[in-house]
Amino acid sequence: METTITRILTLTGCIVGISLLHYLTPLHLHYLHDIFQRLYYLPIILAAFWFGLRGGLCCSFIVSIVYAPHILFQWGGHLTMEMEKYMEILLYNTVGGVTGLLSQREKERGVELQKTAKGLKESYQKLQHQSEQIILIEEQLRRAEKLSTLGEMAAVLAHEIRNPLGSIRGTAEILKDDYRPGDPKHEFIEIQIKETERLNRVVEDFLHMARPQQGDMQPGPVQKELETIVTLVSHEAKDRQVNLVLLPQPLPVIINADGEKLRQAFLNIVINALQASPKGGRVTISTTVSENGFCNISFNDTGSGIEADKLEKIFDPFFTTKPEGTGLGLAISKKIIESHNGKLLIESKPRQGTTVTVRLPIQDSIHGGRG
Ligand SMILES: Nc1ncnc2c1ncn2[C@@H]1O[C@H](COP(=O)(O)OP(=O)(O)OP(=O)(O)O)[C@@H](O)[C@H]1O
Ligand SMILES: [Mg+2]
Repeated sequence: METTITRILTLTGCIVGISLLHYLTPLHLHYLHDIFQRLYYLPIILAAFWFGLRGGLCCSFIVSIVYAPHILFQWGGHLTMEMEKYMEILLYNTVGGVTGLLSQREKERGVELQKTAKGLKESYQKLQHQSEQIILIEEQLRRAEKLSTLGEMAAVLAHEIRNPLGSIRGTAEILKDDYRPGDPKHEFIEIQIKETERLNRVVEDFLHMARPQQGDMQPGPVQKELETIVTLVSHEAKDRQVNLVLLPQPLPVIINADGEKLRQAFLNIVINALQASPKGGRVTISTTVSENGFCNISFNDTGSGIEADKLEKIFDPFFTTKPEGTGLGLAISKKIIESHNGKLLIESKPRQGTTVTVRLPIQDSIHGGRG
């Protein structure tokens, strides 16, 4: 507002000053009048520049009004001079109009550019905010992925360590019965049991720091592994009054495997079969050789069988129908078998029984033959 008033005052001052010069200068100094006449362009252009089309025209109009009496009364006698001065007035208005129009357009463009710049700035800020969000989310996702992998690992290891710890505790309980309380051996076994329990807790707490070790692949006969499994679970089979049978293998079948991992897988499958079997049931383990260089190790039980809707879920981690189960046994076994380039197949008839087949590639050099 203040600048507008200053500008108007400046323009008024200019016009008044130039007009006074015109009116007070004697006519015979016409070369001075020529200069003063041109000086009027100064306020006109300034007005156009500051106030646009309207300002330019307004100023040129005022200049025309102020200058016209001078032409009329002082140059009235000289026709050519008078005509020239009127032409000048026309030029004042043209310059005022054109300059005003141009400066107005320029201003409008400036405003538009400013608007675009503001819009661009806003979009840039939005984009920056969004990219920051994306980076944050990506980081969270990566962390979640790590945590879930770690969690999965921990669960797998916990499951696998719990089984042998359970066996140690179980056998210690049996041994404890052989000694009377007060006997030092009875006490030792108590310590063993307590420490096993502590180890179980510690293992679960610290498992997330453990890393799975790369398996040690070695060729070996399948039958030997199966015999070990039968020995390991024979006690449980007897407890459950289930008849556990390992059918003999006429020719040795040699496979390349990480014995410990493979035993884990077999153990999970046999324990499932025993758990599903009723008293007096039967679990049969047999190996056959197929023509395409694979052997099929079948674990057949006469147990409860699996309903069709559950059959498609049994390999899912944490799927279990047992109150004490973790639902990891088959998921882990499947992973182990697949890491041996094998397949885990399952066939089941509800209330009749289940057959789990482990299909593994036979070591070519010692390929046995048909079973
Ligand atoms: N031989 C089988 N007969 C009947 N059901 C079976 C048999 N094997 C597996 N299942 C079903 O598949 C489910 C998943 O088995 P999985 O071994 O993965 O877990 P789990 O035995 O329940 O628990 P965990 O092995 O961790 O103690 C079992 O809960 C059971 O319902
Ligand atoms: Mg199981």
